[in-house]
Amino acid sequence: MIFEPYKLKNITLRNRVVMAPMTRNQSPGGIPTQDVVSYYSRRSKAEVGLIITEGIEVSHKASSAYPNVPRLDTENAREGWKKVVNGIKKHDGSVIAQLWHCGGFRKLGMQPDPEVPGYTASGLVKPGKKVAHEMTLEDIKETIEAYASDAKICEELGFDGIEIHGAHGYLIDNFFWSGTNIRDDQYGGTLEKRSKFVVDIIKAIRDQVSNEFIVGLRFSQWKQHDFEAKLALNPEELKKVLIEPVNSGLDYVHSSMRRFWEKEFENSEENLAYWTKKITKIPTIGVGSVGLDSDFVDMTAPASPTSIERAIEDISKNKYDMIAVGRALLSDPEWVLKMKEGRLNDVIPYTKEALLNLY
Ligand SMILES: Cc1cc2nc3c(=O)[nH]c(=O)nc-3n(C[C@H](O)[C@H](O)[C@H](O)COP(=O)(O)O)c2cc1C
Repeated sequence: MIFEPYKLKNITLRNRVVMAPMTRNQSPGGIPTQDVVSYYSRRSKAEVGLIITEGIEVSHKASSAYPNVPRLDTENAREGWKKVVNGIKKHDGSVIAQLWHCGGFRKLGMQPDPEVPGYTASGLVKPGKKVAHEMTLEDIKETIEAYASDAKICEELGFDGIEIHGAHGYLIDNFFWSGTNIRDDQYGGTLEKRSKFVVDIIKAIRDQVSNEFIVGLRFSQWKQHDFEAKLALNPEELKKVLIEPVNSGLDYVHSSMRRFWEKEFENSEENLAYWTKKITKIPTIGVGSVGLDSDFVDMTAPASPTSIERAIEDISKNKYDMIAVGRALLSDPEWVLKMKEGRLNDVIPYTKEALLNLY
């Protein structure tokens, strides 16, 4: 079932394997190079069902925190992305652009404007640590508009959809989490109010793009700086986080786990993707150490290929709909073909060297 076609909104994916969004830092000046074009095209040729691009910084002055991350705010960057999309489509692949605002991971001195600090919900970058700019209502409005106009650009460039990066402690997750959002206006307080920022982003995007265009949301419990953090302690709380975003026009939810086989809540063996699908009733992607024997803790740790029986079983039982694969597809562009043909021994193991090149 995992290697059979799957209908996501109006497009038919050739299988249910998704390339997880992975930042590669190889787009100087925010412009995807020809190597980036070939990197994605190679994976499309080798039958990845759906490619989610690396995080693309939204067109806002404080979105950036890492060097050489691609953007959309210059003609050259947009041209670069058009080539990426065409390279993927040439091989009958599907592609979604991940839109990213780094929030509190940005520091003074960073490009493109060293005077601009990190922006967060309450100035907090972690509980008790207030070193960022507390976003005003005007800042919030500006940021929402940046997401909406970038989503429109993505549709014009030929992407099948966009994914809002709402995970891992970055800006949207900073609003979701009570540890970093202590606002007392409409964007802070209850779980529902902490979701309002992304709800407004989704509504603004929906106003700008066609009905056919896919809009997804990635979220996580864990943060880059706190693997134990949780947005929701039980399914009822998870419903409060997700239901308004879903009702505002999402087409899928991407539940980011570090180890997809782990249980999420007390009194049940099921993972976060299972609960996400059960609560939202819309297509759900699971992710986290699929096909690898080493956890997603440290990107530099080597990892060997493993069977994906558990993921296949989960999907055949309809627990969630698609599975995203990160590091395994970084080291081996032909991972899907080899797994489909049962050639586990031929899969190239993951090592940190895979991070250095764009093969
Ligand atoms: C090099 C690298 C870059 C990543 N960049 C992003 C990113 O831009 N956006 C995102 O949501 N997750 C990012 N992630 C997380 C992955 O999408 C994925 O959730 C994680 O690697 C776990 O999957 P895996 O165990 O299959 O690698 C990145 C992971 C890696 C290894």
